[in-house]
Amino acid sequence: MQPLSPITLALLAWYDRHHRELPWRITPGAQTNGMRADPYHVWLSEVMLQQTTVQAVKPYFAKFLALWPSVNDLAAAPVEDVMAAWAGLGYYARARNLKKCAEAVATDHAGTFPDTEEGLRALPGIGDYTSAAVAAIAFNRPSAVMDGNVERVISRLYAISDPLPGSKPAMKTRVKALTPDTRPGDFAQGMMDLGATICTPKRPACALCPLNAHCLALTDHEPERFPVKAAKKEKPVRKGAAFVAVNREGEILLRRRITSGLLGGMTEVPTTAWTSRMDGGTGADHAPFPAGWQECGAITHVFTHFELHLSVYRVQVEDRCCDDGWWEPVTNLEAQALPTVMKKAIAQAIPLAFKSI
Ligand code: ADE
Repeated sequence: MQPLSPITLALLAWYDRHHRELPWRITPGAQTNGMRADPYHVWLSEVMLQQTTVQAVKPYFAKFLALWPSVNDLAAAPVEDVMAAWAGLGYYARARNLKKCAEAVATDHAGTFPDTEEGLRALPGIGDYTSAAVAAIAFNRPSAVMDGNVERVISRLYAISDPLPGSKPAMKTRVKALTPDTRPGDFAQGMMDLGATICTPKRPACALCPLNAHCLALTDHEPERFPVKAAKKEKPVRKGAAFVAVNREGEILLRRRITSGLLGGMTEVPTTAWTSRMDGGTGADHAPFPAGWQECGAITHVFTHFELHLSVYRVQVEDRCCDDGWWEPVTNLEAQALPTVMKKAIAQAIPLAFKSI
């Protein structure tokens, strides 16, 4: 076995003292005594953590485990329930893939996750990052785990001046060389914790960093220059309109989006198509039924590949005057599988509809 790099040793010692206590983790060092984190917990948390921060994930993680304590439970759950529990985390294709992956583990692997990076990578919805993370954290495999935090730490440590994403393979080679056979999961999570708490994008706390003696970016006094990123292309803009109808019972007209495509299967208020044209499809003449629609502002939501501007219209009607969709009490909106863009549109028309969006 190769002797461990001083960088690896320093990082593990720091992780032992300063790790974040998170519900899906086991005690640092326990890997060496044969303890293993639950692969279902690790997988679930890693998929969620690709969406948002550790703090935001905690309540979702707790909710999922309360509803579906095992991967077999999740596999058996109705997909609408999984989407509703996921609502607010964003990028809903992940929720559908989560369910597909649980089904594959339940049916093709008798409810047990494969224990290698390659085996995990073959499951639906599991990419390079998740397979490496689950292999290292739950199965003690020396996989090189790289997320945005790790990229920042590595690019600074070695002052990698080639821009991302082209420099990823070179970074991965560095991470691979540092990853120990003995505590690969602790190492991966230590790198992530370091990136999240010390080696931050702005004003990193280099004086507190366990790796400061090895950091080439710090030697040059310019850690914030890294990671270097290729210039971003501006996102194209699409436009459309959203229609919020409320009846005198305090019910709002909702619909389900078609299963395929963006936000597939999620709940929405009626909208026009989202088009890149600046002309048609953005006015009250495209409403789901004729009525006295009033424009009440606009919202913007940034998706991965485009920016959406929605004009929001509202109307007060007497009764359930449209049967394309269903009428839901406004007081029950929190329980719906409404993506954030739809919550924004509804909140534009009914400011107190949500506690937070
Ligand atoms: N970000 C993504 N996965 C993480 C993990 N396991 N620990 C800390 N931060 C993370």
